[in-house]
Amino acid sequence: MEVIICQDADEAGRRAARRIAAILSRTSDPVLGVATGSTPIPTYRALAALVAEGAVDVSRMSAFALDEYVGMPVDDERSYADTIRRTVTEPLGLDPSAVHVPDGMAEDLVAGCQAYEEAIREAGGIDVQILGIGGNGHIGFNEPTSSFASRTRLKTLAPRTRQDNKRFFAEGERVPTHCVTQGLGTIMDAGHVLLLANGQEKADAVAAAVEGPVSSMCPASILQHHQHAVVVLDEAAASRL
Ligand code: GLP
Repeated sequence: MEVIICQDADEAGRRAARRIAAILSRTSDPVLGVATGSTPIPTYRALAALVAEGAVDVSRMSAFALDEYVGMPVDDERSYADTIRRTVTEPLGLDPSAVHVPDGMAEDLVAGCQAYEEAIREAGGIDVQILGIGGNGHIGFNEPTSSFASRTRLKTLAPRTRQDNKRFFAEGERVPTHCVTQGLGTIMDAGHVLLLANGQEKADAVAAAVEGPVSSMCPASILQHHQHAVVVLDEAAASRL
């Protein structure tokens, strides 16, 4: 794993965006793996600036998101489909029909997950996957004990994740209990992975992922086995390394 420690989240975003741009420019039909959460926002902003400068060509680019809540309408602003539209599709100027998010409203969720895997395969696989990390070491919504071989599937959210994500829901509103998420096996198939983390509250999870034993109790630790894994951190997130 290559670990890059930056002064702050904005510098981390710029460094990450430059890496992503370099990887994507090597292929004619680039496929970007995108994550939700607050962490990748500076990266998307920096990437949008590179697109505006003409340093990244998005005309043939497609994108696949990691995960989605089950039962959340896609036009709800808390849905990951809507979050990706606001933070990635529109700022980067991607063709909306080339941006894919797992379907958490599918009548047959299992078939939807299989179709998602198939769509990634048909696109030629993900060239570079952007990842955040949960306080419990999750990537996507692969909670502790997730199988390293897992593919896109239905998962129950861990109590800690529901607690962490409670801030997006109104008082008394029910935080979703289930999600569909790319599996750890799906993520490991990406050509490159870029794990981003900012802030002191991620320092323990980052240390476990980067320096701890490879263990399903810290799902992000599987990235130690990836051939091309880069971890971009601000100083606070790197403070326990
Ligand atoms: C959610 C997402 C993850 C994300 C995590 C961290 O649980 N499913 O993909 O990495 O939140 O979010 P944040 O970047 O806001 O800390």
